[in-house]
Amino acid sequence: MTSDAASYTSSLEFDPRIFSADVKCNRAHTTMLQEEGIISQETAHAITGSLDELEEKGISALDLDPSVEDIHMAVENYVTSRIGEKAGFMHTAKSRNDQVATDLRISLKEEIEEIMGDLLNFIQNTVDMAEENLETVMVGYTHLQHAQPTTFAHHLLSYAQALKRDYQRLGDAYKRVDLCPLGAAALTTTSFPINRQRTAQLLGFSHVLENSLDAVSSRDFITETVSALAIMGVNLSRICEELIIWSTYEFGLVEIGDEYSSTSSIMPQKKNPDVAEVARAKAISLQGELVTILSVTKALPQSYNRDLQEVTPHLWRAVDTARDTLNLVAEMLASVKFNHQRGLELASSNFSTATELADLMVRENQLPFRVAHQIVGRLVSTALEEGLNPDLIDSQFIDQISQEVTGEALHIKEELVEKALNPLEVVKSREVPGGPAPTMVREGILNLKNWMEKQIRS
Ligand code: ARG
Repeated sequence: MTSDAASYTSSLEFDPRIFSADVKCNRAHTTMLQEEGIISQETAHAITGSLDELEEKGISALDLDPSVEDIHMAVENYVTSRIGEKAGFMHTAKSRNDQVATDLRISLKEEIEEIMGDLLNFIQNTVDMAEENLETVMVGYTHLQHAQPTTFAHHLLSYAQALKRDYQRLGDAYKRVDLCPLGAAALTTTSFPINRQRTAQLLGFSHVLENSLDAVSSRDFITETVSALAIMGVNLSRICEELIIWSTYEFGLVEIGDEYSSTSSIMPQKKNPDVAEVARAKAISLQGELVTILSVTKALPQSYNRDLQEVTPHLWRAVDTARDTLNLVAEMLASVKFNHQRGLELASSNFSTATELADLMVRENQLPFRVAHQIVGRLVSTALEEGLNPDLIDSQFIDQISQEVTGEALHIKEELVEKALNPLEVVKSREVPGGPAPTMVREGILNLKNWMEKQIRS
């Protein structure tokens, strides 16, 4: 190979990610070879001794010249430099094909565990914030139009639920990452009497991969993990999008902490939500990594192909982007100050309580909901034409409209009308599981806390 071709095909640039896993993998394999009587105790000790030494010194002890091709060769070269040609026994019944797949799985398991821990912290922050905002009224949107009153707490718990599913998705992917390919060797195992269960156990895997061709050639454990990360990115980008919109002058609902905003170099009045914007864009690069991985692996024949090496940098980029985005969005959300007055103002000023008024007619006058809907629809358009705010709607006005629509007055008690038009009262009345009533949100918080405790204990 020319030196250009060698550096073009080398994986050394991103192999440092699997250095520590590679040392562990070599050590477990050597231990098993010795336990099964495939190599002598003396050779095994010499090999594991120099691996221990390498682990202590760290990756800087390796010669990472591109001509070395990859980290597996660099580690073997190191052991050879310490104990001579005995080092060659380390590669008995092993190939770089099963080794790289094993290393990737060992490293990815650690990364997933960390991201899952970060997700729990994010959920905890969200729950803490929700606890302080049980009666913080705001308007809920559909089609980005005022729909019905809700609370900031209820809204925050919607984030928490999405993050909980992200956590569960990663946990599911983890189960399929946690399978050991070692012993598959190049593709068809070996004629040496190796013990695959033992290396899997030494490396902390739950099971071995059952087919050796599959063991060296499958990367769907990566696709699945990156897919879970890309979905998480979508959830995070939606939070960012809302914070960007809510922090505009027009909405005026939140203020993002200065630490997560910037100003303009020319417009001194500006406060820009930079972290939210960059995070919104980073979510898209996660989708890009996923599509690249799907495309590299599509239509590859069994078993190992060097194309698979090209998957790896996209995996690590996805892992890093996902984790950084997750943690920064969590911090930024925690820095948010919600404008209570503005929340109430928006929920009170544009008939977001209209559904409740129609429900009241169904309850008090036994009207079919469709008729009530018609009356309230007419009521709102008349009020808007006449410039009447919701707080000026009374029983008499309702009767005027209902007579126009149905020919009959409804005579609803004034206090019931007032209650139906009060956003906080409306929120409190939605005492259905999953609803915004503080009692229900408190229950949602409790469920999440119990669930989180279970995750921490397991
Ligand atoms: N560096 C390779 C990878 O990341 C592993 C080595 C397999 N190389 C080979 N020529 N069989 O996939």
